[in-house]
Formats: sequence, structure tokens, C-alpha cells
Amino acid sequence: MMQIPEIGSSVIFLDTCDSTNAELARISGYPETMNGTVVLTYEQTAGRGRRGNSWASVPNKDLTFSFLIIKPAIKAEHSFLPIAASAVAVAEFLGEKISDKKVQIKWPNDILCNRKKICGMLIENTFTGNESQKTIVGIGINLNGTAYENTRFPATSVFLETQIEEAVADNLAQLLPYLNRSFTQMFTAPGLLVNRYNSLLYGKSEWVPILVAGKNILGKLELVDMLGNPQIRNINGDLVVSRVDEIQFSVV
Ligand code: BTN
Repeated sequence: MMQIPEIGSSVIFLDTCDSTNAELARISGYPETMNGTVVLTYEQTAGRGRRGNSWASVPNKDLTFSFLIIKPAIKAEHSFLPIAASAVAVAEFLGEKISDKKVQIKWPNDILCNRKKICGMLIENTFTGNESQKTIVGIGINLNGTAYENTRFPATSVFLETQIEEAVADNLAQLLPYLNRSFTQMFTAPGLLVNRYNSLLYGKSEWVPILVAGKNILGKLELVDMLGNPQIRNINGDLVVSRVDEIQFSVV
């Protein structure tokens, strides 16, 4: 069995960089870059989001970091598992920090607070054939920012929800145990991790607008399976989807 890396065994703090995912990818080949290394920056000049989008964060106020897992012993078809581990860790962390608000996972890996986006993640896997060489998990949490413009989903921050100013590096230190717990469970009991993921799902017990293959419907996301495929129930009671690339949540 593989040695489970400690996320944050080494932490690199940068005043500024283009993107922590890009920086970690550049240094990941160096022999001194340890498994579990974290790169945190106080300012990202070219933050990257999913689907080729950019990621805007407020310099010195928001939390932007990435971590590296070398040879994570995950097959290509299980690349949903690091997504689930990261999403569960951040949702549980923020859920405790913002205790009176509803923190949920918007499939696959956005974190919402009362239906507003508070965190995004970009997870990049490198495979040789079916064997994973490295996984880079990039996490952006809206911490102290107060204005987020041009976001597809309405956005919020920890400060906007709690009125408490947060120290950026302290929040990384607080989040690391959640990440280490989730990733340990991913390697030891992936089924239990996916159950935790499902218990935190947005759109599970309420009807939400979903774009399915270009059509807007109201649906409930009943379950996400181990491969990350969502099962959506429409208002007639039919199970409508299952292909990952076919659905997107609409703006509420
Ligand atoms: C998304 O919601 O589209 C994903 C956003 C991911 C942003 C984080 S911030 C730290 C890391 N570095 C990046 O360039 N992107 C991720």
C-alpha cells in the first residue's frame, strides 16, 4: 500500500505568483519537492478556474493555495475521488467556521454558502497510461474579500457571512487537518468518503434549476456515484441524467 502523504508537510509562502497550480506544476519535478507540498500565495496574477475560466481573488485577503500528491495510486476512472476528498474537507471546515449558515457542495466541486459560491477548486491530474503520476489540487476560498464581480454564480466570502476578519495563513493551518483526514479516508475507505460527499450535496433535498444537455429543468441531485456521475430526478419522477459532461447547475 502506498505511504499516505502528509498534506502541508512542507509549505511554501509566496508574496505573489501567476497561479499556485502553475507554480506547483513547475516545481513538482524537482527532487526536493516533497509529497504533500503546499504553495500558498498572497496574490495571484493569473489565477485559473475550471473550464478555462480565470479565478479572481482579492490580494492579501483571500486564500489561494495548491498542494501536490505524487503518485497517488488512483486509476484514471477514479479521478473523482480527489475532487470528493477536497470538497468534503473544505465544506466541513467552512461549515464549522460559518456555523449558522448552510454550507454545501455544488457538484462537482464548488462550495456554496446559502447558495452563493464561497470556494472553487481546480484539480489537475497527470497520468501515464492508466497510472497517476501526480495530482495538483488548487483551492481558492473567498475569505476577507467584499466585492466579487463577473461571477457566473453569485459569490460571498467568510467575512461577508460572519463579519470576522480572518488571517490568511492561519486559515490554511486550520484547514490542513480536514484535508489530511479526507485524503486518508480516500485511500483507506473511498466508499465512506463518497457517502460524506453525498450528505453535503446542494440540490439533494430541494428542487434546483439544472441545465441538462442544453435544457433548463428543475431537478434533485439524488446521488453522485464513486465515479462522480450524478443521478438527477426530474419533477415527473424520472431519472434524467448520468453523463458528467451533460449537466450544469443554472444560476438561482
Ligand atoms: C473554479 O471555480 O473555476 C476553480 C477555481 C480554482 C481557484 C484556485 S486558487 C488556487 C489555485 N490556483 C489557481 O490558479 N487556481 C486554483
